[in-house]
Amino acid sequence: MLSEKMEKALNKQINAEMYSAYLYLSMASYFESVDLEGCANWMKAQTQEEMIHAMKIYDFVIERGGRVLLDTIKAPQKEWDSALAVFEHAYEHEQLVTSLINDLMNLAIEEKDHATQIFLQWFVSEQVEEEASASGVVQKLKLAGAKEGGGLFMVDRELGQRALPIPMPAA
Ligand code: FEO
Repeated sequence: MLSEKMEKALNKQINAEMYSAYLYLSMASYFESVDLEGCANWMKAQTQEEMIHAMKIYDFVIERGGRVLLDTIKAPQKEWDSALAVFEHAYEHEQLVTSLINDLMNLAIEEKDHATQIFLQWFVSEQVEEEASASGVVQKLKLAGAKEGGGLFMVDRELGQRALPIPMPAA
């Protein structure tokens, strides 16, 4: 059984993960608008990752006898100045999510909720990867000098290789 406090905090995190999905889908849509299909693909894969994160928490709350109560998802940013600006934003966003996961873990410790602590360990490790993968693209774009031109084209092609966690049927 989850404490009321823990249940509320996990519900809040479902919203944060759904917002992350929404933000990355907005970034994907920006990339489609500037014909960077590979970057858009990377962001669509990231969107799916976030939906998976939200669903993991959803399932956990239900499994623990809690109630999922969905709230409004705020509107994401829609425009950026460059591919680099988008990935810098993604990296900053992942650092924010890491701090939210750390806060959740602190609460689970405070509440002496061992099951939630174990559950959250997956998210703690996942955030190391999430930050590394966004910051990895930032570094690539910087190295390629990729505000525009050939370097950006190469990075875009590479990001197009990222597989979608949930393969979509062909159109
Ligand atoms: Fe759900 Fe990208 O952290």
